[in-house]
Amino acid sequence: MAIISLVLICLVLIVVAIFLITSLTGAPYVPTLGKDFDREIDKLYKFSRKDLVLDLGAGDGIVLDIVSKRGAKAVGIELNPILATIIRFRFRNNPRVTAVCKNFYRYQFPDETTVIYAFAVGNHIEPIYRKIKAEATRLGKPLYFISNAFNIKELKPEKKVWTWYLYKIKPEKN
Ligand SMILES: C[S@@+](CC[C@H](N)C(=O)[O-])C[C@H]1O[C@@H](n2cnc3c(N)ncnc32)[C@H](O)[C@@H]1O
Repeated sequence: MAIISLVLICLVLIVVAIFLITSLTGAPYVPTLGKDFDREIDKLYKFSRKDLVLDLGAGDGIVLDIVSKRGAKAVGIELNPILATIIRFRFRNNPRVTAVCKNFYRYQFPDETTVIYAFAVGNHIEPIYRKIKAEATRLGKPLYFISNAFNIKELKPEKKVWTWYLYKIKPEKN
């Protein structure tokens, strides 16, 4: 009995440690309010089959679910292996949604990427902006960026709906 209790305590501590450590690299796990996002998002951006959406720090995949129901392909980049596994399990029968367990700063965007979503904390918005700008430059095309709750100081949004800012991030000129 004592050994079982010890194993359970160790497991709980490992899970807590994983959530704590991953939250330090971008944002803690706080999901987007799915009902609000589902109701409001069409006013911000019309997702379609032409889109490949990346959720940088995808949590449990709520955003992936909502955009894939509008026809988009969606990739969740999630550092927390527990959450990445939940996404893979949740969308095991949906080929339009995949998950990559990786630090999004080290992730190379696929060529077909059109939209990036992030719900990060304030001090990560500028580094995320620079990452998207670098990827837009590498891919040679503009990318749309939807940021939940935090705005980019140096860039004017194309639109704002509720807590979501829509930006068009252009490639750097040579
Ligand atoms: C605020 S939650 C947002 C979850 C989801 N995007 C949503 O809107 O529901 C942020 C997520 O980013 C993940 N995360 C934090 N830093 C990361 C990084 N550097 N690379 C990948 N995922 C990261 C966290 O584990 C957490 O699940």
